[in-house]
Amino acid sequence: MHISELETPALVVDLDIMERNLSRVAGYAREHHLRLRPHTKTHKVPALGKRQLGLGAVGLTVAKTTEAEVMLDAEPADLLVAYPVMGAQKLDRLRRVAKRTQVTVALDSAEAARALSAAGVDVRVLVEVDLGLGRTGVAPGDVAALVQEVVALPHLDWDGLMFYPGHIKGMTGEDEARLARLRRDLHDVLLTLTALRLVPRVVSGGSTPLLFHSHTIEGMNEIRPGTYIFNDLNTAAMGACGLEDCAATIIATVVSRREGHMIIDGGSKTFSSDRLATGGADFGQIVGMPGAVFHKMNEEHGYVDIRECKNAPAVGERVQVLPNHICVAVNLHERIYGVRQGTVEESWTVAGRGKLQ
Ligand SMILES: Cc1ncc(COP(=O)(O)O)c(C=O)c1O
Repeated sequence: MHISELETPALVVDLDIMERNLSRVAGYAREHHLRLRPHTKTHKVPALGKRQLGLGAVGLTVAKTTEAEVMLDAEPADLLVAYPVMGAQKLDRLRRVAKRTQVTVALDSAEAARALSAAGVDVRVLVEVDLGLGRTGVAPGDVAALVQEVVALPHLDWDGLMFYPGHIKGMTGEDEARLARLRRDLHDVLLTLTALRLVPRVVSGGSTPLLFHSHTIEGMNEIRPGTYIFNDLNTAAMGACGLEDCAATIIATVVSRREGHMIIDGGSKTFSSDRLATGGADFGQIVGMPGAVFHKMNEEHGYVDIRECKNAPAVGERVQVLPNHICVAVNLHERIYGVRQGTVEESWTVAGRGKLQ
């Protein structure tokens, strides 16, 4: 099938670009002896997780226990749930997943560790440390106490540390300072643990914006990038990739047009309402139509200002939109179509979409 025959709105992935992104990062991880445990929240497709494993990933990462169930189909040797697991149903689910593969859980509280242990779930544990994001994670000075608690609990096998450097968006002066601080804090945590003879096997960090700086973070031996498989306008705006590295776009049809403005057949339920992380008022970039501004959305309507656009399409014609934040957009779609030079070569069900528990 040709791409022009797809019913819109359709989420399409350029396979040549995606494969280049996957190989580049697999090669980088190999070159720098970094374990690669990609975060699958970006694609939510077991077949794509399988490709990442085929290229040398040591395991896969998920945020939720329901996503872990879905990703079992990728047959990972190890699944990291990079999110504290709370509540009886989630613990039950985790126990079932742990019967089928090695499970690692990241946590940042004694409560989460005790609940996991009391539920009798045999898992590896990464203690999460906050190295500047200010989200989850214990303060660097509290890591050792939580590690000691985990080590003492039955069923839990302490495997190391996890952090997420989501506060470092690019490599501006401020980000350089944040990265220097992160390196210092991590170094101090590792010194403290070593003095207590608590040596982590895994120190897991990494994000897409910081990806190719990972080898400069001493002591970190694993990366968990997610967005890198597709990249998006955010990644490009942060300077972490070029527009030519963005694999995923959404094809939409112009359903209405008036003087200076047109409506496309997708809104916040197709693209998500995320604005660019670096600032900006648009909801995506219309490929090949300079001057077209995708400035407003309702649920099923996208408003594009075409006053400054010389080649705006007619009603019934199509546009290709590069989304701001691909991970959220993927979660809104049932299928992803893999396209090579205009031909739809394969398609995948987004099996992990809506898996929020
Ligand atoms: C804990 C954790 N690890 C890894 C990632 C992957 O980050 P990125 O998509 O920037 O590669 C995320 C993203 O939200 C995350 O929350």
